[in-house]
Amino acid sequence: MRVAKLNILPWAKLNGCHDDVLLYPRPTSRSDNIRPFIRSPNYILHYQSINKMLKSTFAPIFSAFPAKHRTRQPSSTAVFRVFAHTPESVQQNASANSHTSILPPYLFHPTSAYVHLPFCRKRCHYCDFPIVALGSSSTQIDDDPRIVNYMQLLSREINATRPGTTTNPPLETVFFGGGTPSLVPPSLVSSILETLRLKFGLCLDAEISMEMDPGTFDAKKMKELMDLGVNRVSLGVQAFQEELLKACGRAHGLKEVYEAIETVKSCGVENWSMDLISSLPHQTPEMWEESLRLTIEQQPQHVSVYDLQVEQGTKFGVLYTPGEFPLPSETQSADFYKMASRTLSDAGYNHYEISSYCKSGFECKHNFTYWKNEPFYAFGLGSASYVGGLRFTRPKKMREYMGYVENLENGSVGCNENIHIDGKDMAMDVVMLSLRTARGLDLRSFAEAYGDSLVHSLCESYRPYVESGHVVCLNEQRRALAADEFNSVLFKEDKDQAKMAYIWLSDPDGFLLSNEMISLAFRVISP
Ligand SMILES: C[S@@+](CC[C@H](N)C(=O)[O-])C[C@H]1O[C@@H](n2cnc3c(N)ncnc32)[C@H](O)[C@@H]1O
Repeated sequence: MRVAKLNILPWAKLNGCHDDVLLYPRPTSRSDNIRPFIRSPNYILHYQSINKMLKSTFAPIFSAFPAKHRTRQPSSTAVFRVFAHTPESVQQNASANSHTSILPPYLFHPTSAYVHLPFCRKRCHYCDFPIVALGSSSTQIDDDPRIVNYMQLLSREINATRPGTTTNPPLETVFFGGGTPSLVPPSLVSSILETLRLKFGLCLDAEISMEMDPGTFDAKKMKELMDLGVNRVSLGVQAFQEELLKACGRAHGLKEVYEAIETVKSCGVENWSMDLISSLPHQTPEMWEESLRLTIEQQPQHVSVYDLQVEQGTKFGVLYTPGEFPLPSETQSADFYKMASRTLSDAGYNHYEISSYCKSGFECKHNFTYWKNEPFYAFGLGSASYVGGLRFTRPKKMREYMGYVENLENGSVGCNENIHIDGKDMAMDVVMLSLRTARGLDLRSFAEAYGDSLVHSLCESYRPYVESGHVVCLNEQRRALAADEFNSVLFKEDKDQAKMAYIWLSDPDGFLLSNEMISLAFRVISP
């Protein structure tokens, strides 16, 4: 990452922009076929947006979209056709979500909320998220004033947030991410859920997820959380080798991993997920194979596989350089990715998103909100919301966050005061987010929003990749078009345009090339 940053700064300066303003990768003529999605130095600006999203559920919530910097004025190009001109009155009256309505998804009313609970016992060596390290010896967690005070602040933030209208649909998903949310006493989690319920409403069958770490909960706590409505657990396991857990600076060992899994299962949590990280320092293919095998043995309904990101300012960032020993090379990382895809697919998991696998019906509903580019609330330190077409990132430092909540209460700031994301950015977000999923990019709704000619140019730029099999074009029935068929529809020899309904990246080779595919799309959208 340090190397990558150097690559990009001259370009930022060349364009007369502050580098923070640039969200998308510098077009590059170089294409590396085995470059894992998130590891390319040439994509550092893109990295700011995508890399975080690959990491996890938390990802889109933080700097995935550095909203504050998205202050370019709406573009006057034809790219942004329908949605850009949705009148303000329509936006304001978007009271209830009719997903069949003509409103673009970003103007639906939010039915998802992310809640950031930043406390950890200690910081992991790879982690650069806004957290508060309580100290491993901290035993009086339940009445730790740092937690109690933060939870009060969080309630105040929720209460001070203006829902768009009085006819909000109730929340359908809530995601407690961290940090280590399972460190927070259930009584305090309860007060947040109650605040959300009173403020926005909460569906009886809402998906309520919580990130939980081994060694931070027992059966009593798990049951209390379930009684509050927590019905989806995301367990941060990362690796099944004691030495790797230690090397990552995890606050738990393997014994706690197995105890935590046992607790989750014995308490009857029916929807639980496991997080694993590949490309860790000194991780061998045999270790990775073992972690995947042991994961499958435990039969979680969902598995998230993240490729290690070496972040500046972390211990790993100081110690290691991506691609250099003891980290794997890019080819080895790609092999890890392929091994995960093959092994988990063989075990009956659907690879439904670039880093997510699940048993049928266990997709994470909350994360789909992000991938469908639908709006969501966010509360807490460093979290980013997306409401009414605006992305807003909260301060990452506690003191500043406190000030933000105070200002929100006295009305001097709002979380809806950002400038709308411009049309090109929006189109890029849609491509970037939807190509992460196995559903792919819906070409017809994309054409409706941004124009047929843009879809045509996009398909044309993907032609070589359709031929190589990295990109797949599907018809309405999701049958893959052969390259010849794709070409003849593209060049209108075949007039049945409806045949081109979705663009989708093949698994695993297309997913591995997604950086390049997204970058190509960006060049088409913003030449
Ligand atoms: C918000 S984090 C923290 C959740 C939980 N406290 C934990 O550490 O297990 C969610 C997940 O992101 C992944 N993650 C965090 N930082 C990462 C990094 N630098 N590279 C790859 N994955 C990362 C880990 O798998 C982690 O479980």
